[in-house]
Amino acid sequence: MASNTILITGATSGFGLSTARLFASKGWDVVVTSRRKKEITAVAKELEAKHGVKATPLVFDVRDLKLIRSLQAKKAELFDVDVLVNNAGLALGTETLQEGDPEEWDVVIDTNVKGLLYVTRAVLPNMLKRGRGHIVNIGSTAGHWTYKGGAVYCASKHAVKAIHEALRLDIHGSGVRVSSIDAGLVETNFSVTRFRGDREKAKKVYEGLTPLSPDDIADAIWWTVSRPPHVNIHEIILMPTDQASVRDVHRRAQA
Ligand SMILES: NC(=O)c1ccc[n+]([C@@H]2O[C@H](COP(=O)([O-])OP(=O)(O)OC[C@H]3O[C@@H](n4cnc5c(N)ncnc54)[C@H](OP(=O)(O)O)[C@@H]3O)[C@@H](O)[C@H]2O)c1
Repeated sequence: MASNTILITGATSGFGLSTARLFASKGWDVVVTSRRKKEITAVAKELEAKHGVKATPLVFDVRDLKLIRSLQAKKAELFDVDVLVNNAGLALGTETLQEGDPEEWDVVIDTNVKGLLYVTRAVLPNMLKRGRGHIVNIGSTAGHWTYKGGAVYCASKHAVKAIHEALRLDIHGSGVRVSSIDAGLVETNFSVTRFRGDREKAKKVYEGLTPLSPDDIADAIWWTVSRPPHVNIHEIILMPTDQASVRDVHRRAQA
């Protein structure tokens, strides 16, 4: 029997890397993507060596529609997968709108929204042809609430929620499943990127609480995908026990 294949965008760290490792450990072939050739090649090599699965690195920026189209033309089989995890994404800064940098807004919106659309468009027709497949969108609690300094990131994740819900309707009846995994605070490289490399500032985000780990997210994705074909998990919102909403975080005093 041919093995299952999952394509995960942004698999060099965080959610994407943990998900690639978990699915490979379950015997799935993986297509892992990143903007960085060296890093994603190392991830693919690790997965092949550890789990004996086929792991293919694919280098592209999810914002680059032209490149996605040319890869699709040259390597069509890599876009013919059982599961797509639309994971690549980021936040940049926590400035208010009046102080924010419009060029950074372009990066966030183009990556989180347009990138997700482009990759979905490249993969979905194959799933529809087979009448089987699963698109897992990585949303966020920032797609359910807003917070000060989060206008652009929250807007991008609210857009992911809207795309997710409309996509479910677009393909309803096809047999293809669509799910959204919407997390609160998870300690990954996310905050380091958001604070433009300032690791001290990034650490403070998780101070005094136990955040989720990227393995918790991989676990939720695995559970979602491994339900029987007649079960479509619409959306999972998961937060640390110490977090009750995007703004309500319980922090314990540090010793
Ligand atoms: N961490 C959290 O608290 C949290 C909570 C809710 C939702 N999320 C969402 O979860 C997803 C993953 O975040 P994470 O926490 O795992 O962050 P992370 O550790 O920084 O990982 C982000 C991944 O996205 C890739 N990426 C970023 N921009 C890209 C682009 N333009 N094209 C291709 N790949 C790109 C990066 O790959 P390269 O740099 O190698 O290209 C990296 O592998 C994001 O959508 C984020 O919004 C995170």
